[in-house]
Amino acid sequence: MVDHTSARHDAAQSDALVLFGFTGDLARKQIFPALYAMARRGELVPRVVGVAGRPLTAAEVQGRVRDSIGNAGGLVDAAAFDRLANAITYVSGDYGRPETFEALKQALGDAKRPAHYLAVPPALFETVITNLGKAGLAKDARVIVEKPFGRDLASARELDAVARSVFPEDAIFRIDHYLGKEAIMNLLYFRFANSFLEPIWCRDHVASVQMTMSESFGVGERGSFYETAGALRDVVENHLFQIVALLAMEPPAGRHFALVQQAKADVFKAMRPLDKGDLVRGQYAGYRQEKDVAPDSDVETYCALRLFVDTPRWQGVPWYLRAGKHLPDTAVEVQVQLKWPSQNLFEDSGPAGGRANYLRFRLQPSASIAIAARIKEPGKMFVGTQQELFLCEDTDGQQAPYDRLLGDAMAGDASLFTSFQAVEAAWSAVDPVLSAPPAVVTYAVGTWGPPQADVLIAADGGWHAPTPDGGCAPARPATPAGAGAHVP
Ligand code: BG6
Repeated sequence: MVDHTSARHDAAQSDALVLFGFTGDLARKQIFPALYAMARRGELVPRVVGVAGRPLTAAEVQGRVRDSIGNAGGLVDAAAFDRLANAITYVSGDYGRPETFEALKQALGDAKRPAHYLAVPPALFETVITNLGKAGLAKDARVIVEKPFGRDLASARELDAVARSVFPEDAIFRIDHYLGKEAIMNLLYFRFANSFLEPIWCRDHVASVQMTMSESFGVGERGSFYETAGALRDVVENHLFQIVALLAMEPPAGRHFALVQQAKADVFKAMRPLDKGDLVRGQYAGYRQEKDVAPDSDVETYCALRLFVDTPRWQGVPWYLRAGKHLPDTAVEVQVQLKWPSQNLFEDSGPAGGRANYLRFRLQPSASIAIAARIKEPGKMFVGTQQELFLCEDTDGQQAPYDRLLGDAMAGDASLFTSFQAVEAAWSAVDPVLSAPPAVVTYAVGTWGPPQADVLIAADGGWHAPTPDGGCAPARPATPAGAGAHVP
């Protein structure tokens, strides 16, 4: 991120990867393709030991990896696949039983510095960590823990205590894959590598900020995980809060990654604890009939919230966040709404003109930054329209987040991982609404969630749906002069 060399200082490379949850959704969708990408680049593939409950033959193990890579974009390089497949062994067993960890020890052979990846349901984190310690498998090892880290403040602290009783802090990698996304890393760069932003990046010029993370699909096969999480724990308290931190943080005191972590943690600490009235929870119609979902489930598949970051820079500026499944589009977008000019010189350079200037950060599936500015229309009258100027990022060939983060963790580089300080402060902000949440409201599949979420943001101009293609589609229709200037 910033000064990687200092993060990797003296860190030895992990010589094996233990993948708990080998048969799970995360391994299939993200981790196998990440390992394959490493093999394709010709990097040394570490010894991989998969661990899961069910017994699998060697052919079944390879078949799973092959299918996963095929689904993620087709098998193109047989030699790379063979290198990966030959590096994988598999251990089946119950995570609660010492025999499983003895078998794992055997499978690890002479590996000196394994990295243990916990791609298992959060309820199993403590069991696996404790048993790794008891089996002597934590020595000189690393542990990569998936989010959510805990279910609330108390359980996060408890998990942290268990993890630290077995691993030193610099061996614990709390993963949030949003931090490994190119467009999200660019937020930090864009903010502090440009001079024009800083003077307006504060309460004097920003009216509100809104963020949408929408997915057009449901929980699919992940019902049992989702029942333990819900949208707030699954993606808001971590992914979206990380984006808030990058946008709201003060300039770090220096380049070292620990200083960036500190500046971000300060944002989490300044988040005002949520009030029940700041949160709307929704559930898509039909969720209760999904596989592994309780027929009377109260879990939210959508949430919208209003957040305040109580720092001098952001005092009084509302941050609206919404995330949900089965919405009309799959996209992540942030819009920073600026205030009107203080002097209303033209008829339309005040509230009568519609919407004031804004910045729009499209974070996925495409990546772009748009700056909206008013421009005069030709003619005698001093009236204009608002147009967006675009910076479109080329996303071809970018390293996938899990590929990047897995490589970083195995190299001992913690720059793109979350500190416990930040995790703890983030839970502190949401904790009040976790114990007494408002009731869920049903919304129809393919809509933007319950109408109560519109009421939440009404005073600040309402939600803006993510722009199709982020405005950067090649076939964009012609725009008036001066607008839509594409910078490659
Ligand atoms: C995961 C959540 O962390 O992020 C999923 O558990 C969600 O529910 C996913 O779908 C979204 O990730 P991405 O990278 O596709 O935006």
